[in-house]
Amino acid sequence: MPDKKLIIANWKMNPPTYKEAEQLAEAVIKSSPKKVDVVLCPPFVWLTDMSHESTGKVKFGAQDVFWESGGAFTGEISAAMLKNSGVDYAIIGHSERRRHLGETDAMVNKKVLAALKAGLRVILCVGESKEVRRKGIDAAKRFVERQLREDLQGIKYQESSIKNLVVTYEPVWAISGGDSTHTADDPKNAVEMIAFIKSILNSIFHILYSRVLYGGSVNAKNAGSFLREPEIGGALVGGASLKPKEFLGILKAAEKYGSMSDK
Ligand code: 13P
Repeated sequence: MPDKKLIIANWKMNPPTYKEAEQLAEAVIKSSPKKVDVVLCPPFVWLTDMSHESTGKVKFGAQDVFWESGGAFTGEISAAMLKNSGVDYAIIGHSERRRHLGETDAMVNKKVLAALKAGLRVILCVGESKEVRRKGIDAAKRFVERQLREDLQGIKYQESSIKNLVVTYEPVWAISGGDSTHTADDPKNAVEMIAFIKSILNSIFHILYSRVLYGGSVNAKNAGSFLREPEIGGALVGGASLKPKEFLGILKAAEKYGSMSDK
């Protein structure tokens, strides 16, 4: 069972120039610990230049992917294009896309199936809004269970699908979005939700082992409180991944609490 922590940097729509993106990636690659699996997800416009030049010390991921394999779909990028460009991962169903771009669970589901079929590793994001969370943790569980049922519908029980699926619990209310009024979830609650997600993956999709991450206002200061929990397989990091010192602090915590038993 892999215990090595997986830390994913979601740069979102940052930084504004390739030079800054390159400096950010170099700072991480230079100091990235061997005992941690690191994935960088730059915007598409920088992604493939970086993945083509990758030495393999860190992996690269896209922030989205389209479900069709090719054709008249202006602005979209297929899973095969990513795969053929040395990109290993794709974030799918991020709450910002669900909220700002109207991405539905049916669309997320098509993306998940297409990405897995093409051999990409999928980082599926699920998590409840503040309104749902106000109703309590049981309401949050019901919400997340519905997302998982719809987003993973039709997933094939195959070694490759299972190995390539990473679920991230990202409560929408905990995502910083650049403003400091949001705070991270309590690690105990995150553990409860992640254990619940694993039980759903197991009972409905027959996925016995899965890596489930936490995301939402993770920084160098609080990373250890999440990553020391064996239930939490790693973190999906937004704002703090744009600051090398912060991100390297998170990687240090991941190194401390992970093990080398993976691979
Ligand atoms: P923050 O780490 O900025 O809260 O963002 C989390 C996130 O959305 C990562 O995908």
